[in-house]
Amino acid sequence: MNPRISRTFFVHAGIKPACALLLGLAALLPLSPASAQPIVIKFSHVVAEDTPKGRAAIYFKKLAEERTRGRVKVEVYPDGRLYRDADEIAALQKGQVQMLAPSLAKFGPLGVPEFELFDLPYVFDNYAQLHRVTFGPIGRELLNKLQPKGIVGLAYWDNGFKQMSANTPLKKPEDVKGLKMRVQPSAVLQAEMRALGAIPVTMDFTATYQALKSGTVDGTENPASNFYTQQMQDVQKYMAVTYHGFIGYAVIVNRKFWEGLPADVRANLTGAMRDATIFANDIASEANNDALAEIERTGKTQVLRLSPSERSEWKRALLGVHREMEGRIGKSLIQAVYAETGFNPAKP
Ligand code: LMR
Repeated sequence: MNPRISRTFFVHAGIKPACALLLGLAALLPLSPASAQPIVIKFSHVVAEDTPKGRAAIYFKKLAEERTRGRVKVEVYPDGRLYRDADEIAALQKGQVQMLAPSLAKFGPLGVPEFELFDLPYVFDNYAQLHRVTFGPIGRELLNKLQPKGIVGLAYWDNGFKQMSANTPLKKPEDVKGLKMRVQPSAVLQAEMRALGAIPVTMDFTATYQALKSGTVDGTENPASNFYTQQMQDVQKYMAVTYHGFIGYAVIVNRKFWEGLPADVRANLTGAMRDATIFANDIASEANNDALAEIERTGKTQVLRLSPSERSEWKRALLGVHREMEGRIGKSLIQAVYAETGFNPAKP
């Protein structure tokens, strides 16, 4: 519109020139968030909301929606309400869900068994050692292996170190002998249970409580936050604080969806994920310590905290799994992890 005509139009329309200027500027802006359909991210996971992963997913939703000013809507589905372990990765690949955070023990069935290095017993003594792997070149290369599967790995989120639980007293590694132990779908975890003389039973996380209750399995392993939020204290009488392995997550998205996002939206989501990762990794340790204290407080599960020498016995019983799994994970990859963490298999 010619400026003179437009001035005349607004005056005739009874609109003051200052208002006219604002209306003109508004017309130049992109569609307001209210008038455009938001991009929906369905974020599915299998644990409770009040866990490190559950809380970080909610925090990511908040940041993502704020920073994209409503152009993205994140729908978080906890507790396996949308998909369970057995079907969630296939659902992501088909685009039925856009974001997941499976535990690192769940990438073997996808054909990336190298992730199972995180399941190696006693390979990390603490979060600092773990972060040298997740935030370093090994962590990055592992996420890159997901690309050909139609998946982009965005981040690693911590949970924590695992305890063993059962309905019979657990103190020494021999106490697990003959028990049916629920594990995640990881060959390393199966080997771990076999090393203890137990029978590994691979099962979805969401089926575990019922299986423990009905006696289909006798025991399991998990960080305290998962145990407590599933009320496993109602179905497990004994827990040994073995801290024999780690559970954490890779946050993953459907690649086609991710690469098809407008660049500015993707940049905002990348920033939101970076900050949600800091949040997740800040709360994980405390959440697990609190959950362990809560489990003890219920008095339903007898929690045994191990002395250093008792813990060494578990370590000795389990370390053979590292060598046994070299063929699956790769000897050089395992050596590279040792180099990052300072782990020395000759000095358990
Ligand atoms: C499990 O299956 O035991 C856990 O990995 C579940 C989870 O996502 O923490």
